[in-house]
Amino acid sequence: MDKIIKKVAVIGCGRISVMHFDGIFSVPNVKLVACCDIKKDRADYYAKEYGINAYYDYKEMFEKEQLDAVHICLPHYLHTVVAEYAFSKGVNVLSEKPMSIDYESAEHAVQTAKENNVLYGVIFQCRYNNAPKLVKEAVSSGKLGKIISCRSILTWSRSDDYYSSSDWKGTWDKEGGGVIIDQAIHSIDLVNWIVDSPVKKLECSIANHGHSKVNVEDSAEGYIVYENGTTYGFYAMNNYGCDEPIEIKMYCENGKVTFGYDDAYIVYNDGTTEEAHQATDLKEVAGGKDYWGFQHAKQISEFYKALFNEKPLEISGKECLKTHKLICDLYKKGKEKYKN
Ligand SMILES: NC(=O)c1ccc[n+]([C@@H]2O[C@H](COP(=O)([O-])OP(=O)(O)OC[C@H]3O[C@@H](n4cnc5c(N)ncnc54)[C@H](O)[C@@H]3O)[C@@H](O)[C@H]2O)c1
Repeated sequence: MDKIIKKVAVIGCGRISVMHFDGIFSVPNVKLVACCDIKKDRADYYAKEYGINAYYDYKEMFEKEQLDAVHICLPHYLHTVVAEYAFSKGVNVLSEKPMSIDYESAEHAVQTAKENNVLYGVIFQCRYNNAPKLVKEAVSSGKLGKIISCRSILTWSRSDDYYSSSDWKGTWDKEGGGVIIDQAIHSIDLVNWIVDSPVKKLECSIANHGHSKVNVEDSAEGYIVYENGTTYGFYAMNNYGCDEPIEIKMYCENGKVTFGYDDAYIVYNDGTTEEAHQATDLKEVAGGKDYWGFQHAKQISEFYKALFNEKPLEISGKECLKTHKLICDLYKKGKEKYKN
């Protein structure tokens, strides 16, 4: 039997939206029908490019279009506001990370999606890279044994221009923070996903060392103790001169792991090794950034497999609450001593 076409729209036509448009076009039986942005020129541009309807008010779009799903590519503080609106209309949501800028609204959105029997996915595309996937499998299968400790380092560059070209980035009330919630969230998520244990206690320090025009943190270090005994230390800064590859290390009972978004190397205590690398056939998306990686299309395709009832949704809002809680708790701790 032919599948019923799913009609979808993208809300927020800024930088990341190209990855969503591209992903939507690669899924069979999914039709992009509309896009929405309060900046008229942005919505008009994509509407013309793709022959779809442009809206400048998302509520009007929900009224006029019969939508099955929306992709939320908005400033962080609007993610759950718009997701809740979509859920109330019975529309499925794939939201960009982070879920929200606080824990309570994210938890509430998960509950509302459940009550309305709709899907709520959150983008953590790096989980689909070959390197983290290999490490996740080696840990889940028990091959690596218990993870004793992990550490991650992120040194990226987000210039003053990056912040001044945005009306929401670099603000506590709209972005919800700086380097943790925007950049390091992916590496913190990878570790949290692989360790897969509740957090027992944590420490975090945040600072703004190099960005005089914004007052969110550009540097952070934290230490997390999980209930299973694993410890995790991280360092992140976005006032480095370039975007270096992220580095994650895990010291495990049966071996040592070094990995990032692209490559993973495992050396087991018995001398055997395993490695994984970024696939070579991944296509670049015009307007995409290297540091976003190539897996948006994969996650979007998985979201629609779940919508077509072919398999359960892997990276659901409920699943992502674990990392979201950690991010929010790191900020709570970090803000205790932060003055800016
Ligand atoms: N997964 C990743 O690797 C990745 C990478 C980059 C950005 N992101 C995420 O994508 C989201 C968007 O980031 P961006 O860099 O594209 O930001 P952006 O500022 O370029 O785009 C956001 C867009 O939303 C529009 N907007 C604001 N309020 C609106 C409203 N009420 N209705 C409709 N449109 C509205 C803005 O006009 C803007 O065009 C953020 O959550 C960000 O963290 C994720």
